[in-house]
Amino acid sequence: MVTILDGKKTAEKRLELLKEKIEDAKLYPRLATVIVGNDPASQMYVRMKHRACEQVGIGSVGIELPAEATTRMVVDEVRRLNRDEDIDGILVQLPLPAQVDTERVIGAIRPDKDVDGYHPENMGLLFSGRPKFSSCTPTGIMTILAEYTIPIAGKRAVIAGRSIDVGRPMAALLLNADATVTICHSKTADIAEELKRADILVSAVGKAHFITAEMVKPGAVVIDVGINQLEGKLVGDVDFEAVKEIASAITPVPGGVGPMTIATLMENTFRSAQERACDRVL
Ligand SMILES: NC(=O)c1ccc[n+]([C@@H]2O[C@H](COP(=O)([O-])OP(=O)(O)OC[C@H]3O[C@@H](n4cnc5c(N)ncnc54)[C@H](OP(=O)(O)O)[C@@H]3O)[C@@H](O)[C@H]2O)c1
Repeated sequence: MVTILDGKKTAEKRLELLKEKIEDAKLYPRLATVIVGNDPASQMYVRMKHRACEQVGIGSVGIELPAEATTRMVVDEVRRLNRDEDIDGILVQLPLPAQVDTERVIGAIRPDKDVDGYHPENMGLLFSGRPKFSSCTPTGIMTILAEYTIPIAGKRAVIAGRSIDVGRPMAALLLNADATVTICHSKTADIAEELKRADILVSAVGKAHFITAEMVKPGAVVIDVGINQLEGKLVGDVDFEAVKEIASAITPVPGGVGPMTIATLMENTFRSAQERACDRVL
């Protein structure tokens, strides 16, 4: 019988717990979001993040820059937020418009306020096995695996996708948890063969029904990061109906990885506020 890894329920539980922790800590953490342009999907994600802030007692500030903003304008805004002592976390909503140099913008965020974990310093710490802030989506996946007590050490984990926001940090987190990790991408010679060997399969490709039942080892744990539109419906990368007959556990889309991403962002923001409060005392 397959276990449905319920990200929505787990995230709600984590957010409730976090709300209590924030009240007990007598802190008022604050997150700043920066959005450039008016892409509807990005606007929706930012709205969801602000709503989660409200739910747990984190203050939030939304900075909106015009679609034609330059790299300099975005970097200046980030630097202003770096200096603002009332701001604990800075999140720049990606993707940025083509004329903006994303690497320069991310590199401008103070690493101790980089609650999205994309700054090269935080990536380096993650890959050297000493994570401080690690990207919210893969970290949320580790949380859901822990919630359902899914063993990782010694397991063979295979990840489809090598992006900087999902595939690569996911590999580092699973490696840090003692899995044997393979990362696949568009140039992988025989991806079906690689995936078929996975005890834990993570798909972050962005293609509807990319993962078919034939690519999944019986009893595998399947994590679906993908968010795709198919015939007017939101679906993941995994052919859920077919794969759930083979997997031992699987995340649904929607209601799997997505809510965990936002819960992790809230947790990272609180952690930043705690550490910054400690630094002020010391
Ligand atoms: N639920 C959430 O919270 C959440 C968060 C982030 C992203 N997402 C979703 O997750 C998906 C992936 O996001 P992303 O930002 O990682 O995407 P991305 O930057 O576009 O990366 C996609 C990856 O998939 C690989 N790929 C593409 N076609 C492939 C193929 N035919 N065979 C093997 N690999 C292939 C690419 O390989 P190359 O590197 O070789 O090009 C790339 O590494 C999207 O649907 C996105 O919306 C969800």
